[in-house]
Amino acid sequence: MKPRLSDPARRYLKQVRDIFGDELFLNFKDPDSEPLANPGELDAFHRDICECQKCPLGQTRNKFVFGVGDSNASLLLVGEAPGRDEDLKGEPFVGRAGFLLDKILKAIGRSREKDVYICNVLKCRPPENRDPLTNEVEQCEPYLLDQIRLIKPKLIVSLGRVAGQTLLRVDKPLKSMRNVIHDYHGTPLIVTYHPAALLRNENLKRPTWEDFKKIRDYLEA
Ligand code: URA
Repeated sequence: MKPRLSDPARRYLKQVRDIFGDELFLNFKDPDSEPLANPGELDAFHRDICECQKCPLGQTRNKFVFGVGDSNASLLLVGEAPGRDEDLKGEPFVGRAGFLLDKILKAIGRSREKDVYICNVLKCRPPENRDPLTNEVEQCEPYLLDQIRLIKPKLIVSLGRVAGQTLLRVDKPLKSMRNVIHDYHGTPLIVTYHPAALLRNENLKRPTWEDFKKIRDYLEA
């Protein structure tokens, strides 16, 4: 049987022919031809914002913690905010929790230099590691959105309850944010446990490993 076009499709093609003639140009977007992020662009963005004073944390920080990793990473990990070690070094996840995160990444064949980018919702440390305040998130989240626009990750993984709640604008426990592929401004987002929580509670290691196996499979699909 001859395939038949629907009426709206016929009308559309007729209109195109009336305007452009008999040749049909199709403009399908080829994901492989998407321009890769230029590492220079991310560095330039870092230089542009590293003196930020948009919220009071600019006054109390030691170092602005922009992020670290591969500017073309398919996996973007997002924590809540730098802690003491990160504030001193200017790099996210460098304390004990960071060491554990590196081990988890290695188990899925990645590292902070290899197809992974790591950053936080807030780029400056809140005093005494308290949770981010609404005003701080409002000022800082646009930086994260710009990082996402430049890196174009396939998947965002937010680490811990606070990062998950902050990005998704929900007040749910971590358990109910897990095992769902959320949408964060057009990029798929998964929530899993914060590595610091695994240091406090060994029982969380297994479910976290389950999450990271799913993350690996999602990225390889
Ligand atoms: N916890 C976070 O959420 N981010 C860091 O960079 C370090 C610890």
